[in-house]
Amino acid sequence: MITNSKTGRIATLLMLLSLSLVYCKTSRKATASAPEEKVSAVSYTADILPIMERSCTPCHFPETGKKKLLNTYEATKENIVDIVNRIQLPAEEIKFMPFKSKKTPLSAEEIKLFKDWYNQGMAN
Ligand code: HEC
Repeated sequence: MITNSKTGRIATLLMLLSLSLVYCKTSRKATASAPEEKVSAVSYTADILPIMERSCTPCHFPETGKKKLLNTYEATKENIVDIVNRIQLPAEEIKFMPFKSKKTPLSAEEIKLFKDWYNQGMAN
C-alpha cells in the first residue's frame, strides 16, 4: 500500500498548490490589475489592431492603401479567414502576408492571437 499513500500525499500536495494559486490570483486582483491579465478574450482593439498597424500598413490602411482596406473592425472580421490563412503561409509564398515580408512577419504568438480571436467570436 506504499503506492496508495504516495498517491494520497501527491493528491494533497496538488490540492494545496491549487488552493494557494487560487489565493494568489484573488489577492492580486484585489490590489491592482496585473499587466499579465491577458487570459481574457482576445479583442480587436487591444490585440489585433496594434499588430495590423505594425505589419499591414500602409498597404491595407487608408492614407496610401492601394490594396483591400483592412483598417477597421468590420473589414478585419469579414476577411479573417483569408488573413489567418495568409499569415501562416511560408514567407516565400506569393500570397503570404505581410506581402514579400516588407513589414515584420507575425510571430507564432501573434498568429495564435488571430486564431484565438476568430475562435472566440471576434470581440471588438
Ligand atoms: C507591402 C504591402 C503589403 C503589406 C504590408 C500587407 N499586404 Fe496584404 N496584400 C498586398 C498585396 C499587393 C495584395 C494583393 C496580392 C494578393 O492577393 O496576394 C494583398 C492582399 C491581401 C489580402 C487579400 C485581399 C483581397 O483582395 O481579397 C489579404 C486578406 C491581406 N493582403 C492581408 C494582409 C495582412 C493581414 C497583412 C498584415 C499582416 C498584410 N496583408 C500586409 C500588400 C500588402
